[in-house]
Amino acid sequence: MTEKFYITTPIYYPSGSPHIGHCYTTVACDAIARYKRAKGFDVLFLTGTDEHGQKIEEKAQAAGLDPQTYADNVVAEFKKLWTFMNVSYDRFVRTTDDYHIKTVQYIFEELYKRGYIYKSEYKGKYCKPCESFWTDSQLVDGKCPDCGREVVETTEEAYFFKLSAFADKLKALLESGDFLLPESRVNEMVNNFIKPGLADLCVSRTSFKWGVPVTFDDKHVVYVWIDALSNYISALGYHNDTYHDFEKFWPADVHMMAKEIVRFHSLVWPAILMALDLPMPKKLYAHGWITMGDKKMSKSLGNVVNPFVLGERYGVDALRYEVLREMPYSGDSMFVSELFLQRINTDLANNLGNLVSRTTSMVQKYFQGTLPAEREAESLDADLIAVAEAASKKMENKLNAMHISEALEEIFVLISRANKYIDETTPWSLAKDESKKVRLATVLYNLLETIRISAIMLEPFMPNTMPEILKRIGAGADEVKWDSIYTFGKLNPQATVTLGDPLFPRINIEQELAFLSPDQEKSA
Ligand code: MSP
Repeated sequence: MTEKFYITTPIYYPSGSPHIGHCYTTVACDAIARYKRAKGFDVLFLTGTDEHGQKIEEKAQAAGLDPQTYADNVVAEFKKLWTFMNVSYDRFVRTTDDYHIKTVQYIFEELYKRGYIYKSEYKGKYCKPCESFWTDSQLVDGKCPDCGREVVETTEEAYFFKLSAFADKLKALLESGDFLLPESRVNEMVNNFIKPGLADLCVSRTSFKWGVPVTFDDKHVVYVWIDALSNYISALGYHNDTYHDFEKFWPADVHMMAKEIVRFHSLVWPAILMALDLPMPKKLYAHGWITMGDKKMSKSLGNVVNPFVLGERYGVDALRYEVLREMPYSGDSMFVSELFLQRINTDLANNLGNLVSRTTSMVQKYFQGTLPAEREAESLDADLIAVAEAASKKMENKLNAMHISEALEEIFVLISRANKYIDETTPWSLAKDESKKVRLATVLYNLLETIRISAIMLEPFMPNTMPEILKRIGAGADEVKWDSIYTFGKLNPQATVTLGDPLFPRINIEQELAFLSPDQEKSA
């Protein structure tokens, strides 16, 4: 039976245009989803938008629109960006979709019936832009610990979810195996939230209307987190009639997000699932932030890098590569235009692009485009072959452990090794000696084969350019399949190459830095 794989991004707030920060999570999930599909898994890749709440209501009002129209406009931008970025999501859930609302209403009612939701009064410090309540001990200098803004004292009648009842079970879950990655986040959750005593969570509001109405008390709307987190199962048809694959896809294999919402995913979401007697997701991965300067890049900070501009100018694959390569497994990554441009030149233009163009041009020049079938191996080949055969395993281990950047690094170890092999074998001198023709064909075949294996491994990350590379080296239908990368030599012996324009044109860094200067970015 085909194994299933269910991966999700957070559902994004349509409170402003999407930026490169949102691209990171979505493209990372996309690369993993593509990799799993290539491996033969039955993949469901879910993304979507989280459209309710006071902030959206206010944004809409400021724009002179009703919240739904406002959300529709921004959601269209998100979808346009994902199409532009080549994101292969299978489903897009909106919290304003009827089926999602149905699921949320069921869950809220069910939790109430089971005694996990109760009515009380909320008194606390509220950060409006973050739509978050904080206890005094969580505030930093009396301000919101997430965004540093002022908080306001608030009191209102509200429903609460008994998060406190799950403290022991949550601790056990977090401390078991690799449920939450990176491991450092486990201590953070246990020490900062569970040990000081988990507070019950306010899950309804009466102060605004833009939300899912509580069915049994219509003064209240469901407050963001129950609404938002339920997307992961409403989109599978849990208690709605739109989809019918909850049994097949739940539990999720990976929920990916950035660190600021790990608290909700590792404490609140598992507790809701426990209260509903549902299985836990298998893994949560909370990566760091793409920052500019020392600030998290976000719409409200206004220092946004526009992915449409970057992708248009330098190629979507280059942009995908950059964000995935730059973000460490644990920790943040600063977006620095100069590093981005340098990386395109070193990794993509010089290392990968040159390998492909040099190799295919030599096959063209010395063999009129088609290699002869005879071979003559030399001991020099063994190391290249060994590196190629080890690369796939290393890359897959890294990717399965969510070490995405390091998975890419492993592939580039192989690409660099192939470039070194050109220097070692000097095909241009072999070409001068008619008696070395067979050896020359062997060297070029080994290079084409290394390119083939590398391109297949890179395709989940750079899905535009890799099929083009595979075409240029003459790989047939079976020779582009994932299963064919484990043994060296699967490329047909008489492969015919085709030449083409540079895949990753070299960039004039100074000129482009001027283009990307902050003034230019604003007008872009
Ligand atoms: N709506 C909630 C999530 C609900 S999920 C049940 C939300 N939305 S958000 O629009 O603020 O998106 C936050 C997520 O977007 C982060 O967790 C991360 O996945 C992604 N990112 C947004 N800005 C980012 C960076 N600057 N860097 C990395 N990821 C970023 O929170």
